[in-house]
Amino acid sequence: MWLKRYQIVRRVVQCRYLSLFSYDSNGNVQPENRPHLYTTPIFYVNAAPHIGHVYTAVLADAQHRYSALSGKKSSLSTGTDEHGFKIQQTAIHLDSNPSELCLRVSQQFRMLFDAIGISYTDFIRTTETRHTQAVVHFWKTLEEKKYIYKGTYKGWYCASDEAFLSEEQTVERPDPSGNRIRVSIESGHQVHWMSEENYMFRLSAFRPKLLTWLQTNPIHPVSFQQIVYQWLEEELQDLSVSRQSSRVSWGIPVPSDSSQTIYVWLDALVNYLTVAKYPDLKYAPWGPSIHFLGKDILRFHAIYWPAFLMAADLPPPVKLFVHSHWTCQGVKMSKSLQNVVDPTECIKQYTRDGLRYFLLRNGSPERDCDFNHNSVCKLLNSTLADALGGLLNRCTAQAINPLQCWPHYQCLNIPPSAQDQLQTLLGALRGLPEKVDQFMNNFQVYKALEAIDVCVRLSNAFFQSQAPWKLHSGKEEEKAWGQSVLYLSLEALRLYATLLQPAVPGIAKVILDRLGVDNTHRILKGSHFFTATEGKNCCFQGQKLGPNCGLLYHRLEDKDQHN
Ligand code: ME8
Ligand code: MG
Repeated sequence: MWLKRYQIVRRVVQCRYLSLFSYDSNGNVQPENRPHLYTTPIFYVNAAPHIGHVYTAVLADAQHRYSALSGKKSSLSTGTDEHGFKIQQTAIHLDSNPSELCLRVSQQFRMLFDAIGISYTDFIRTTETRHTQAVVHFWKTLEEKKYIYKGTYKGWYCASDEAFLSEEQTVERPDPSGNRIRVSIESGHQVHWMSEENYMFRLSAFRPKLLTWLQTNPIHPVSFQQIVYQWLEEELQDLSVSRQSSRVSWGIPVPSDSSQTIYVWLDALVNYLTVAKYPDLKYAPWGPSIHFLGKDILRFHAIYWPAFLMAADLPPPVKLFVHSHWTCQGVKMSKSLQNVVDPTECIKQYTRDGLRYFLLRNGSPERDCDFNHNSVCKLLNSTLADALGGLLNRCTAQAINPLQCWPHYQCLNIPPSAQDQLQTLLGALRGLPEKVDQFMNNFQVYKALEAIDVCVRLSNAFFQSQAPWKLHSGKEEEKAWGQSVLYLSLEALRLYATLLQPAVPGIAKVILDRLGVDNTHRILKGSHFFTATEGKNCCFQGQKLGPNCGLLYHRLEDKDQHN
């Protein structure tokens, strides 16, 4: 009876909730109408965080902040993945107990994410009660719907990736001491043979549905979607979703059988539901989610996760945004290889915003990128210190702007020789917010930053060629044009700083403070730029600048320069 009542309540609540939204022709809720939930993977606590983890978090953070900037609501979840064989083994190896290890490393992640300015709205740990409850509920749902059965799993297991692999996904190779070992082709990590009675998930039933889901183009960039299509060319094998507790005790017990623990990937993926308050019906249908992830965990997110969700009658992810890897001298940075770059050191060396800018601008979805000091210096010196810092310095310096205010723009005094350059500049600047918007909607922060940088350089070139400092002592028209050049440069800076807030919130704030822009004028929605050049009012004209902030970004020392 309770079950019946529960089902009725569930249907009523869902109907009431869903009626707030519009539907497509298949009856699916239109995702645009609801706040997005951006997520990062939840990270294993077997070792301290490195630049790779920070990268995914900063990418998702920039997207989340961009939503707010454009007047949309969103949330951002991140956290730590704390169960499973790998963590159990690490704790044994460190002579620690798993709970202590989890708490300690989870705190490291959280503190680092605070230091780098990740504006998460939820930080989840899979050892929390709310998560166990969600996983248990989810498991029972899959069981009720007959997608889980008992069987024997025989195959290879990669503890490092916590992944079950078929024979074809592995290869024999010599290890550094020359012994022949079997490794995962994809990750290079060692695998071991395993034969266990487990609970199995009917993954094989989901191939057609997954193919239909892929038609909605959920995976960005498209090259990764092609990879998933290739995986789906073959039949899918059912998936083992539990381990014997005698081998893996550090996990959530299978609800009806405590001799088994739930497979850590099923446990971990459900975090995306836990943070959406699953299974609380008030928050149904718990999504839609936009997942940011590295290419190393594409299979789990593009095959297992949507299949699990479909099996539970829940909507599959709206988007997966996949990125490539940071390498160190050409080799993937990874905790197990111990070739990692320490983010805390980087923050000290490059500042929080310096590191964010480098990662966001140089990281790429499609190809691996090398993290090295020289590339960081080269990029940050030329963009933040010289181009952006230089422009700010030029138009706020006492010598050029003795009144320390925004001058008035005077349309009537444009010298004919400046006309072409002015039109090119204004054309580029007026189109910039839309360009940035398109890039951000395609999850291409690096392109948005590049587009802003191109304009910053145009502004500098314009300032340089019009040389307003020479016009101070000239004729009235020249003086007026000098003031207009100054106004245009300040207005351009206001535009850049507004658009840069999601990527480098600290640096953007320094600029906006220096320009005297109040908080109500710091969001994109309803903001207008360059209105004075159209003969309309611009509230900044005649306004005082804010207090001097010193150098925007100190040039970094590039070791190469001394060679
Ligand atoms: O896989 N370059 O956790 P994980 C770029 N717990 N990004 C990198 C990277 C690199 N060299 N190394 C790691 C797990 N990352 C699971 C996830 S989610 C339900 C469970 C980033 O600690 C990237 O986002 O191994 C990658 O996918 C993730 O960290 C893997 O982190
Ligand atoms: Mg990993």
